[in-house]
Amino acid sequence: MNKSYYIETYGCQMNVADSELVSGLLTREGYTESKDIHDADAIFVNTCAIREHAEDKVHSRLGYYQQIKKKNPGMIIGVLGCMAQNLKDDILESKPYVDIVLGPDSYRRLSEMIRERNGESDHLVDTKLSRFEVYDDMFPSRSEGINAWISIMRGCDKFCTFCIVPFTRGRERSRSLNSIVDEAAKAVADGFVEITLLGQNVNSYNYDGLGFHELLEAVAQFPGLKRIRYTSPHPQDMTQEVLDVMAKHENICNYVHLPLQAGNDRVLKQMNRTYTKKEFITLANKIRKTLPGAGISTDIIVGFPGENEAEFQETIEVMEMIKFDSAFTFKYSSRPGTKAAEFEDHVSESEKQNRLERVIETQKQHTLLRNKELVGRTELVLVEKESKRSSDQWAGRTDSNKLVIFDKGDVQVKDLVPVRIKDARGISLHGEIIQIQEMEGA
Ligand code: 5AD
Ligand code: SF4
Repeated sequence: MNKSYYIETYGCQMNVADSELVSGLLTREGYTESKDIHDADAIFVNTCAIREHAEDKVHSRLGYYQQIKKKNPGMIIGVLGCMAQNLKDDILESKPYVDIVLGPDSYRRLSEMIRERNGESDHLVDTKLSRFEVYDDMFPSRSEGINAWISIMRGCDKFCTFCIVPFTRGRERSRSLNSIVDEAAKAVADGFVEITLLGQNVNSYNYDGLGFHELLEAVAQFPGLKRIRYTSPHPQDMTQEVLDVMAKHENICNYVHLPLQAGNDRVLKQMNRTYTKKEFITLANKIRKTLPGAGISTDIIVGFPGENEAEFQETIEVMEMIKFDSAFTFKYSSRPGTKAAEFEDHVSESEKQNRLERVIETQKQHTLLRNKELVGRTELVLVEKESKRSSDQWAGRTDSNKLVIFDKGDVQVKDLVPVRIKDARGISLHGEIIQIQEMEGA
């Protein structure tokens, strides 16, 4: 009988893509995916180390897997991804129920490890990072849907002082342009209509001298792709060429995720973000000029070591100037091993909480304001799924990445339809499908 596996994924989209890679590998090994964790012969957890909270969640899940394993002692438990490095010692010392520990560059060894472990060998651990591994030849096994995640580069060389990623995922390396286009072709053949190019730093993509704008241009010309997105870019590498290619191709979405992190120059320097407040604002304006109506989202960290109230106010000030469409907001979380963890003058938890609430409140107003700008306009929406609120309605996204809810009409999932926006409430928009003739006349 076939063995089955269950995989849980925490953290970023890169991890989602990596889990699909691991699923592809296990499928080729003859494993089938189990929908119920209790029935599985192997449980894998793909972990995230970016903030302490993410690590805590994985620790509590591990306790749960241990309980399941008590009833099924033959079950294999595997810890994958960014926490592997840190958990290695902990696991060898105090978590004997974990069988396999594999870092992000060692997934190829998974099948061999499962076989060895079934032969009762000792704990199997490989957390070595590679300068070359990009899993170029491995096709992921994707769950059905609209969007296929395609990893184009791995690792990060930016070394922002707060961030653990350069240590958990290693040096930056890009995948060949041809293998990315091949994977896009396969995704289209499998019925996906949107792809998202993924990397810790997508716009520092460089393969054989080919840059990110050349990659974008190549995938944009691929027939059958209705939409192309990418995440995350770094402001430092956001070239005019990239923006020009985005402007030129209708199927590249009018949306940029531009992580600000903080608005004060001293804090930015301490973070090693390599741009100033002024440069960031200039870049956001350049994006809006080249790509009118583009959605711009951001990441913000509050309470970086030493950040005082006046410095924090500059983050709010930049938010007020740019009025992001949405933001991911975080309290600074000290990561052992990073440079910032050694900085003094850590901000108190209550102050971080207070700043976070102010950032969230500011963003709420801006999201509503940006959404309201769309009321009365007609947007092309890609139908993604049934709305959570009503089985009579679809939910889909605009080019600029905003969620729109509308009555189903006679359109189907994966259709691109013109929707007139009637109302902006909270973070979502509400609209109605309009007939093409109406749109042409509009
Ligand atoms: N603490 C809080 N937020 C962090 N991020 C990365 N490292 C940390 C940390 N130590 C945030 C950054 C990054 C996003 C993916 O996670 O804002 O852009
Ligand atoms: Fe982390 Fe900075 Fe690299 Fe992003 S660019 S992964 S925040 S080190």
